[in-house]
Amino acid sequence: MATIEIARPEKKNALTVAMYQAMADALNAARADAAVRAVLITGQPGVFTSGNDIEDFMTRAPGQGTDAADSPVLRFMRALIECDKPVVAAVTGAAIGIGTTMLLHCDFVYVSDEARLAMPFVALGLVPEFASSLIVPQLMGHRRAADKLLLGDPFTPEQAVECGIASAVLPAGEVVNHARRVAERFNALPPGAVRETKQLLRAPQAAQQLEVMRAEGAIFARRLRSPEAMEAFQAFFQKRKPDFGKF
Ligand code: COA
Repeated sequence: MATIEIARPEKKNALTVAMYQAMADALNAARADAAVRAVLITGQPGVFTSGNDIEDFMTRAPGQGTDAADSPVLRFMRALIECDKPVVAAVTGAAIGIGTTMLLHCDFVYVSDEARLAMPFVALGLVPEFASSLIVPQLMGHRRAADKLLLGDPFTPEQAVECGIASAVLPAGEVVNHARRVAERFNALPPGAVRETKQLLRAPQAAQQLEVMRAEGAIFARRLRSPEAMEAFQAFFQKRKPDFGKF
């Protein structure tokens, strides 16, 4: 089993370009190593990840956004989506933005009873990403998707299970061990049958997801440079409420 532990607790595990790069490399290495039968992604006690580093969002130059074919975030998400081994997530706490988006592409998602999941893209002047505008309504229907994607309302751990984003809720102190035990079960299963079953499960949606990802990525990259997003990012660092009244 390969373990990817997101560890930047002083910034609530906000993901930088360098972290995406390292996670992409780790996933690709796990895929290439026959001894690795499953991948575990985990965070720190109390936080899985607060999402993309908002400072990186502000400073990202045109062409470095999710539209750029070789951007680290795209390399990471592509490595995750194309990983042909089971990926198990242990959601140790808050999972915001891409922290929730990435869960949509994992096979098993165990959430701590203290976790909060949220996709507050609109509040940041952004749009959903990596096929979440397709997968979220598929999982829970338009009404609940509107709550989560238009309003950005958080999911409690129980709602995440009920909506089909998470597999089960575990006490905070047990979530990582439980997820690890599930990942380790693949040590005793035939890897070829596991790989081909995962491919079969994914294949019917893969082309449509790719198409939606491209469309989302183009809009996301444009919105990253929008005055609405700049206002939201500045408000976050100035620890004030954003003012969208002027738009
Ligand atoms: N990008 C950059 N820095 C971040 C960050 C992010 N996504 N999330 C948290 N941080 C930083 C804060 O700026 C703060 O830095 P400081 O100590 O230098 O002031 C530090 O991490 C601690 O965050 P804080 O907000 O004080 O912690 P909290 O426990 O009160 O709240 C969160 C935790 C996760 C709820 C809150 O940090 C948050 O909402 N983060 C942004 C989530 C987000 O919108 N992500 C992008 C989604 S697309």
